[in-house]
Amino acid sequence: MKKIQVSPSILSADFSQLGTEIKRLEEGGADMVHVDVMDGHFVPNLTIGPPVIKELRKHCSLKFDVHLMISSVHKYIEAYADAGADIITIHPEATDNLIESIYKIKKLKKKVGVSLNPKTKVDVIKEYLNNIDLVLIMSVNPGFGGQKFMPEVLVKIQELKTIQKNHKLNFDIEIDGGINFENSKSVIEAGANIIVSGTTIFKSNNGDIKKNIKLLKSV
Ligand code: DX5
Ligand code: ZN
Repeated sequence: MKKIQVSPSILSADFSQLGTEIKRLEEGGADMVHVDVMDGHFVPNLTIGPPVIKELRKHCSLKFDVHLMISSVHKYIEAYADAGADIITIHPEATDNLIESIYKIKKLKKKVGVSLNPKTKVDVIKEYLNNIDLVLIMSVNPGFGGQKFMPEVLVKIQELKTIQKNHKLNFDIEIDGGINFENSKSVIEAGANIIVSGTTIFKSNNGDIKKNIKLLKSV
């Protein structure tokens, strides 16, 4: 079994203090930093882009797990790679040619993530799984933090575990949206090995990041 990792989403951090917030994640034992990039088009919300990521990256030794929720994603991949993303995750609906976008990320020597919205089926990425490092299962509709976890997506994790076993594949399974201390056990048991969390990490227990990471990992 893979080690369970927590990737805190800075979407719930204090945006006026991002540098300090990222330092707090480092000190609190985060395994990586989840950066939610939204364009107001692919999803109805706007966040940050390459210049901010680039500055934050300079002050942080954690891996940057960049989740791109942007349309026409293909043409922006390079900008995020240059800004310092270590993992670049894209949505199949945001590119005209998924395999080309996957190869582009690989060529830039970054880890390839592909994300499935709650309604998107595993079948959409099945034939590409041998070229994918990470599958990000959305357990809310992307766009906003603080939404309610959708347990019906857990079957997709089980489906992916079966494919992994049958084809001897080794991609990570990450889950994103509404994860809290009550449901983290179920996602880990289903087979997710990376947990994204915004609200729970930054707002629970008065923002005690170390404690919240530990609680999310405990099964
Ligand atoms: C939603 C984002 C998530 C989300 C996580 O579009 O991809 O990363 O903000 O935040 P919580 O944990 O608050 O659901
Ligand atoms: Zn995300």
